[in-house]
Amino acid sequence: MSDAVLELDAIEKGYKLGKPGEIRVLRGASIAIARGEVVALVAPSGAGKSTLLHIAGLLDSADAGTVRIGGQDLTRAKDRARTSARRQAIGFIYQFHHLLPEFSAAENVILPQLADGLPRAEAEARAADLLGRVGLENRAGHRPSELSGGEQQRVAFSRAMANKPLILLADEPTGNLDPATATVVFDTLLSLVRDTGMGALIATHNPDLAARMDRVLRMEAGQLVDRTAT
Ligand SMILES: Nc1ncnc2c1ncn2[C@@H]1O[C@H](COP(=O)(O)OP(=O)(O)OP(=O)(O)O)[C@@H](O)[C@H]1O
Ligand SMILES: [Mg+2]
Repeated sequence: MSDAVLELDAIEKGYKLGKPGEIRVLRGASIAIARGEVVALVAPSGAGKSTLLHIAGLLDSADAGTVRIGGQDLTRAKDRARTSARRQAIGFIYQFHHLLPEFSAAENVILPQLADGLPRAEAEARAADLLGRVGLENRAGHRPSELSGGEQQRVAFSRAMANKPLILLADEPTGNLDPATATVVFDTLLSLVRDTGMGALIATHNPDLAARMDRVLRMEAGQLVDRTAT
């Protein structure tokens, strides 16, 4: 699939844990996500969702298999190429948000844009727009420690969208949110993804949200199986 924004092909990943051997987490996981496509990743705790997302987001390396972002093979790319792909092409929402603690919510959304070369005024305007979309216009000046868990998660969402990535990777982006706020954030996510033509892979334990995505992939024995309800 040449128009895929993200392609993972036969990804293998294990962790070594001392003498007893290693855990094989991913055993030939493959996926292709097209522009504008929103895909749910579901699996029980410990199945390997975060592991897969970290490999797709170039935050970790696979033992075997291929990672392509926007058609570019980045499997064995050097650190500099990986860093620039992460900054320009990938939006990542971590399971535990990882905001910069010494900066305000707005600065957390502005900084990645400055790193990508945007003028400050434009970066500020985009940060205000994104934070407004998730209902945080009155929290832009707060530091992460002055925000609730769900508010931090919404800042992390705005930050991931800041550089208009090709692919959004989200690890339980609504896990700390009450149902009403989860729906608002998810609706915002869907409309931004569809408006911009980016693709999205979203790990979630929420079956209602999964059902609203274009496809549902389930991780079974280290592989991805299509479980979209028909
Ligand atoms: N750095 C590591 N070293 C050793 N084992 C690890 C490491 N990271 C993850 N694992 C193991 O790999 C498996 C998959 O972990 P992963 O975090 O990908 O699961 P998950 O599907 O995201 O789970 P959850 O829904 O709880 O977030 C788990 O059994 C975990 O213990
Ligand atoms: Mg996880």
